[in-house]
Amino acid sequence: MRVLVIGSGGREHAIVRALARDPAVTGLHAAPGNPGIAALAGISAHPASDPADIAALSVKLQADLVVIGPEAPLVAGAADAVRATGIVCFGPGAAAAMIEGSKTFAKDVMAEAGIPTAASRTCVTAAEADAALAEFGPPYVVKDDGLAAGKGVLVTTDATAARAHARSAARVVIEEFLDGPEVSLFAVCDGTTAVPLLPAQDFKRARDGDLGPNTGGMGAYTPLPWAPPGLTDEVMATVVQPAVDTMRRRGTPYAGLLYAGLALTTAGIRVVEFNARFGDPETQVILDRLETPLAGLLYAAATGDLARQDTLRWRPGAAVTVVVAAEGYPGRPATGDAIGGLKQSGCVPGAYVLQAGTAAGPDGVIRSAGGRVLDIVGTGGNIETARAAAYEAASRIQMRGAWWRGDIAAAAARAAVPAGADTSASSGTQRGDGIGS
Ligand code: AMP
Ligand code: GLY
Repeated sequence: MRVLVIGSGGREHAIVRALARDPAVTGLHAAPGNPGIAALAGISAHPASDPADIAALSVKLQADLVVIGPEAPLVAGAADAVRATGIVCFGPGAAAAMIEGSKTFAKDVMAEAGIPTAASRTCVTAAEADAALAEFGPPYVVKDDGLAAGKGVLVTTDATAARAHARSAARVVIEEFLDGPEVSLFAVCDGTTAVPLLPAQDFKRARDGDLGPNTGGMGAYTPLPWAPPGLTDEVMATVVQPAVDTMRRRGTPYAGLLYAGLALTTAGIRVVEFNARFGDPETQVILDRLETPLAGLLYAAATGDLARQDTLRWRPGAAVTVVVAAEGYPGRPATGDAIGGLKQSGCVPGAYVLQAGTAAGPDGVIRSAGGRVLDIVGTGGNIETARAAAYEAASRIQMRGAWWRGDIAAAAARAAVPAGADTSASSGTQRGDGIGS
C-alpha cells in the first residue's frame, strides 16, 4: 500500500513512524513533512496546502491511502477533493469536519444527539456577549466560533479580558466553566462504526502546575492509571457513538478520527470540544502503544470496513511525551536556532525524538522553525519509567532558548489524580490567563 501523509508536525511524524512499521506499507510519502519525517518517508516538493494541490499530489504519487493530519485542510475540503479522484482518504470531508470548524455546529450536533457538554450561548453582538457573560459568571469561557489556529479560547476570571475577547471575533461561543481533569479520547470512525484508541491526557498550559497561557499542548501520556474503570466504554456510549449516529442521520457521515476532549466534572463527563483529526501531542504517545498495523486500520475506516476490523492490540506499559518549545512560545516563537543533541537524546534507552517545528538549512543543520520544536517520547513499563526516559532524553537537547514543562505526567506517575482534578472553581480562576486552544 502506498500511503501519503499530509502535514508537517510532531503528530505527522508519529503517524509516519507508525505507518513505517506496518508491513503492508510499501511506499510512504509526506508533504510538506519535516527533516525528521524525511528520514522515514519521501518528501514531495509539490505544494500541499489547498485541497486541489493535495488531490493532485495524491494522483501524482498514485497513493492507495491519503492521511490528512491537520484540521485546516480537512475543514477546507481536502478529503473530499482526494476522494473525488477515486483515491481512498482518511479524514472527514468538509461537511463533517465542521464538528471542529464551528463550535456552534458542534454544539448543535451535541444537543441533537443528547451529548453532555457545557451549556453555551452563541453571540454575535456585544450586548449578547455581555448578557451571556453575566448569565454564566466567572470563570468566563469565551471561544472564537471558527478555527483560530490555537488562539481562539480564553478562560479567565477577568471580566474586562472576557469582554474584550468576545468583541475580537465576529461570532463567539460563551459557555459554562467545566471543572475536573481533562481526558482526550480518540475514536477511529468509518461513518457508522467507531473504535476507541487509548485515552490520553494532554497538558495545555505553558507552565508547570497548569499555570500560564494555553498552548497547543506541552506534553501527554497514556494510559491513565487514575481514570475510572469503564471510562472508555462510557464515553463511547454517551459521546462518540451518538455523535457518529447523529452525523450519519444528518447526511454527513463522520469518517476519520473523532477527537473527544472531555472534562470529568463532579457532575459527570462533559465534552469540552470535538476535533476532526488526531490530537497533538496525544497522538505521539497513543500511536507508540498501538500494536495493530496503522495503515490497515485507517484504510478500513476510510472504506467503511471497521466492523470487520479485529480488536485493537496495544503494547503493555506507558508512553510520555515532553514538548521542547522555542523561546517565546506560545506568543511569537524564536525560529532558526540550531538544534544539537538529537542523536544523544535518541540514544537514551526507551526514548526517541519526533520532530515538530523543524527545518533543515542548506548547511544540513536542523533548526527550529515553529513554537513546538520537538516531541521527546519516553516509553517504559509504567508511567514513572517512561517519564524518566523522556526527561533524560530532553536534557540532552541543546538549543538556545529551549524550554519544557517539568511536570508532564508527574502526578500520574505517583498514581494520583493529576492536576486539574481540584474541582473547586477557584483553582480554575488561577489558571485563567491564557489564550489558545
Ligand atoms: P478547546 O479549544 O475548546 O479545547 O479549549 C482549549 C482549552 O480551554 C481546553 O482544553 C480547556 O483546558 C479549556 N476550556 C475550554 N472550554 C472550557 C470550559 N467550558 N471550562 C473550562 N475550561 C475550558
Ligand atoms: N492536544 C490538543 C489538540 O490537538 O488540539
